[in-house]
Amino acid sequence: MSIKEIIKVPNPFLKIIAKKVLVIDENILVLLDDMLDTMYNANGIGLAATQISEDKRLIVMDCGLTNLEHDDMSEEEYNKNVESNKIEPCPLKMINPEIIYYSSNITEREEGCLSIPGYNAQVKRPESITVNYTDISKNNITLEANGLLSTCIQHEIDHLNGVLFIDHISRLKKEVILRKAIKEFTNDK
Ligand code: NI
Repeated sequence: MSIKEIIKVPNPFLKIIAKKVLVIDENILVLLDDMLDTMYNANGIGLAATQISEDKRLIVMDCGLTNLEHDDMSEEEYNKNVESNKIEPCPLKMINPEIIYYSSNITEREEGCLSIPGYNAQVKRPESITVNYTDISKNNITLEANGLLSTCIQHEIDHLNGVLFIDHISRLKKEVILRKAIKEFTNDK
């Protein structure tokens, strides 16, 4: 178990298209554990391998397990529920995830990213999806997701294709965020 460095914009590695994982061996399992540790340590709910400079199609997430519907829950409400322990941890590890269905319904949710920490924006995405992936026991899993989990899966798979949440917002908003973020992240080095 170890915490890895999360790279930030404008690191060019965030733009790569990650390679498919062909062999699920001990190294991959350790890497997935490290990704979860790194994500929890940074108080994130999702992390893609490319964010820790690994060229592999791997994502981890924890959107929690709750009886409450995620659909209408804002990030603020979600965080309140986490603080008051209304949400149980629910770590998810996905190898070679691929979205095979997108709903035509679109929803808007506030997103942030550990590679652009401190900057958020409202992002429109399909409300629900179906994702295929391989789990750590090499089973092929098909999962239907909506609400926060759907957003999170789409956000993390975007990372594997070199896409950031700011690529889904207006050019002007994107430029404002990028300019500020790059200035901030390159100044504190
Ligand atoms: Ni992100």
